[in-house]
Amino acid sequence: MIDIKELNKFLSDSSLELIKKEEGLALEGSGLSLIADFADMAPRLRQSNLEREVIVKAARIKSKPMPQTVLDATAGLGEDSLILAAAGFQVHMYEYDSIIAALLEDAMIRAGQDESLAPVVKRMSLTNGDSIMAMKNLDYVPDVVLLDPMFPKRQKTGKIKKKFQILQQLERPCGNEADLLEAALGTGAKKVIIKRPQKGPYLADRKPDYSLDGKAIRYDVIIL
Ligand SMILES: C[S@@+](CC[C@H](N)C(=O)[O-])C[C@H]1O[C@@H](n2cnc3c(N)ncnc32)[C@H](O)[C@@H]1O
Repeated sequence: MIDIKELNKFLSDSSLELIKKEEGLALEGSGLSLIADFADMAPRLRQSNLEREVIVKAARIKSKPMPQTVLDATAGLGEDSLILAAAGFQVHMYEYDSIIAALLEDAMIRAGQDESLAPVVKRMSLTNGDSIMAMKNLDYVPDVVLLDPMFPKRQKTGKIKKKFQILQQLERPCGNEADLLEAALGTGAKKVIIKRPQKGPYLADRKPDYSLDGKAIRYDVIIL
């Protein structure tokens, strides 16, 4: 149950506000509005397109039948997790920002009422909490851990999509990348996948076993 009144207390020092609208939970302010919505992703979720998604190629473990499990330690608005869940992975997401977690939860609830998205979101679950702590205390071993912390350098406002400009006002930059990576490596997962800007540095200077290139993104893969 999303408690908007409680969540808006986190925003009292900002010009942002969460508002329940007919279309979904909206984060609004500075003339911008953001509703997390998985319906926009529908074309990417077609089976033929999923096979081409670099994140799916990076995550899949060839020697193991599906469903394989993914721990998404930096869920954001859940787009990567949605793609992985559509490709058949069982995904558990962690998001430490309560506002972002609420937007994601709202998107999941609405998707659960949609005939084509419902079976996909059934394979997704979300915890509003710090994944570093969680990964140190797991009672299961995920097959894959996905890390997509903040990009090292923030882009200029004009260069990023409008809907993400509002998120920039919220997101706490990930200041403990080394701890995040160490916790991921300690889970016992077979693979840790790290999403980076194409020319970005390795996370915490750890050279991966190999990298796969997407359009503007690179996936660094560490095999364990
Ligand atoms: C770049 S976004 C991830 C975008 C996501 N991959 C997607 O497809 O929508 C990074 C997110 O990770 C969250 N985050 C960073 N460190 C975290 C941690 N230790 N535990 C949980 N969430 C974290 C941030 O709040 C932010 O929402």
